[in-house]
Amino acid sequence: MIDCHCHILPGIDDGAHTLEVALDMARAASASGIENLVCTPHHLNGVYSNSADAIRQASGDLQERLLEAGIPLRLYPGAELHLVPELPSQLLDGTALTYNDLGKAALVELPKTTVPIGAETILEQLLYRGVTPVIAHPERNQTLARRPEQLAEWIGWGCKAQLTAQSCSGDFGERMQRLCRRWLESGWVHLIASDAHRPAGRSPDTLAAGRASVAEWLGEDAATLLTRDNPRRLLIGEDLVSLAPRAAPPAKAQTRRRWLGFLRPRP
Ligand SMILES: [Fe+2]
Repeated sequence: MIDCHCHILPGIDDGAHTLEVALDMARAASASGIENLVCTPHHLNGVYSNSADAIRQASGDLQERLLEAGIPLRLYPGAELHLVPELPSQLLDGTALTYNDLGKAALVELPKTTVPIGAETILEQLLYRGVTPVIAHPERNQTLARRPEQLAEWIGWGCKAQLTAQSCSGDFGERMQRLCRRWLESGWVHLIASDAHRPAGRSPDTLAAGRASVAEWLGEDAATLLTRDNPRRLLIGEDLVSLAPRAAPPAKAQTRRRWLGFLRPRP
């Protein structure tokens, strides 16, 4: 498996606090079948600011420590980027990091409750500049959970969706799990990832349980697509493959009116 969302870099965000914790997370990842992992510390979320240079350096340093410790896990640089107005310019000038530093796709996050005014414009600006936005855990955003048609519309534009493994496996409740299954069956989901912050609990090995849920619902091929093949495409800059829809999308998903769209400035 390839974990494409993990807060393993020590001491730079709310993930691993120390090198020892990072090594424990790496051991947990490796023992659970993860061979490759993208380091995705927060950037621009109002609390943490981690530039591309800082993340490249920290990923390289941790990779050396893993080699010394004999942990067979390959790391790649990335970031979890808050959708703020300065994001497009930071991606353009190289301050903000894309997946594996390729400039092709970027992991972006929303606040927990809202879709801020202007967020859609930022998504459009990224798409216009050839950077594919991968929406981090949309199932955990209360607005998108209530109005999934908004997510469906973004996917129609070319955005991709990454669910948190624990949302799929039921660790965050049955309601969340049902929502994930519905979105997976609608063909809206391109990736699942651990979004791990700790060696236990919110840990990298939760990816295996999330994968098992996807395999149970959609079969082994779909589970492999979401946890290995599509993450690999991220790492080499290829377009992600979508799941074939197996069920009708949630109600209203195709009926959202964009009657304010004409107000939005074009990128
Ligand atoms: Fe995260």
